[in-house]
Amino acid sequence: MKVTTHNLRCTECGTVIAGDAVNSIFRCPQCNGLYDVIYPWSEVAARPAFGPEHNLPNASALRWLWQERRTSTLPVDQSGVWRFRDLLPIVENPENIVTLREGNTPLYELPRCAKSAGVDWLLAKHQGMNPTGSFKDTGMTAALSVAADRGFEWVACASTGNTSAAMAAYAARAGLRSIVFIPDGKIAWGKLSQSMDYGALTIQLKTDFDGCVRILTELVTRFPIYLLNSVNPYRLEGQKTPAFEMLEQLDWQVPDHIVVPGGNLANGSALGKGFMEMRHLGLISRAPKISIIQAEGANPLYRWFTDSNRIMRPVTADTRATAIRIGNPASWRKAANVIDALGGWCEQVSEQEIALAKAQIGAEGVGCEPASAVTFAGLKKLVALGKVNPEERTVLILTGHTLKDSNYTIDYHRGELLTEAENAQISPADQAIHAALRKPPVVLEPDTDVVMRMLESHMKLTQPA
Ligand code: F0G
Repeated sequence: MKVTTHNLRCTECGTVIAGDAVNSIFRCPQCNGLYDVIYPWSEVAARPAFGPEHNLPNASALRWLWQERRTSTLPVDQSGVWRFRDLLPIVENPENIVTLREGNTPLYELPRCAKSAGVDWLLAKHQGMNPTGSFKDTGMTAALSVAADRGFEWVACASTGNTSAAMAAYAARAGLRSIVFIPDGKIAWGKLSQSMDYGALTIQLKTDFDGCVRILTELVTRFPIYLLNSVNPYRLEGQKTPAFEMLEQLDWQVPDHIVVPGGNLANGSALGKGFMEMRHLGLISRAPKISIIQAEGANPLYRWFTDSNRIMRPVTADTRATAIRIGNPASWRKAANVIDALGGWCEQVSEQEIALAKAQIGAEGVGCEPASAVTFAGLKKLVALGKVNPEERTVLILTGHTLKDSNYTIDYHRGELLTEAENAQISPADQAIHAALRKPPVVLEPDTDVVMRMLESHMKLTQPA
């Protein structure tokens, strides 16, 4: 098969190769760098790799076409990823596209969170509303379709749980066989149950995520297994599309700031690529800043960002936000480039701050998993630091559904999540917010009078001020 629609460009040394010439670990043999997918119209497209000059796609024609497809009954048009396929022509035979009608996720207003953070306007793009409950579906539909297009039978990933759930689901839809490597005992049950339900071979390795990546990277060089971790640049092509969708939802009014959680650091990179491509094509005239937030216990990018020598040093990761429990992020340089190119920031947040932010997002009737809540915890810090002004229009990227990690939520509301030492560090002001947010279940005898008395005292206690 000859791939003609795109090339791959090493993000470190700039070497350009054909899409199907890439090795099994998706790393440049010259410099070990990761690739980006480039098209004839890309800003950095190395002509003559594509031959003579290509015209840029027409911005207003694209906007019209994408809008038209919303009313279509074709599966690829109903997908919030493939609806934008003009900007991700990565599959040679469109019949190989595997879709669960991903994307099309809501953009919610968070007025109470906005007030608490001290900003006038706050939205959340809820990627947890995807078919398997996380943003990974947008990337998986893209990369798994490429796997099917290239005739692979086996696919695999190392995962903190969401990538594996998404991969298992899309592989099952395509009739491919999938192998999941997850850290033993360090992922949320909801996610583990998904990969089993969707029929993956699920292997729990007695190590962390970074250890799982090491083993899988060796395996794919020995077996014809298609690697679906986010080093696979086609994942990022799918994950850039929420940027397009968000702009459509905002009637093409560009927000000022996007706040993204950072784990393996592919998502911030992908969204940055999406915004920069839109700017290059004239769909928007400027791109928003992108800031990345990490958990304090899994903060290698934050350390790099605040290190005057800017040296990346992997860490041994530990956080209850297990999705981002990653100490050696593969895409750190891509993410760093996006922060620098778009003028964003990098922050870290504590376990207490994550727990509070998650409860506040939940209390808006929206909810998310802990890793997503770092965005709101981080926004509060960005406002305090003056990196986000109160009038800036900010969008939080909520990456996972609240049901992904219900144990965390239950422990929080029962007051069993944080240790005494952690609780002791919470300020009196935040203690008060926690107290108002905690809603542990009340166990009562099945007696109407008992229930009435309880309700009366509860209503007295919680009367609006
Ligand atoms: N939020 C959630 C819910 C995630 O599952 C992840 C990553 C991230 C944020 C971070 O995104 O890695 O692109 O910086 N989860 C991966 C997984 C690693 O295996 O599911 P990132």
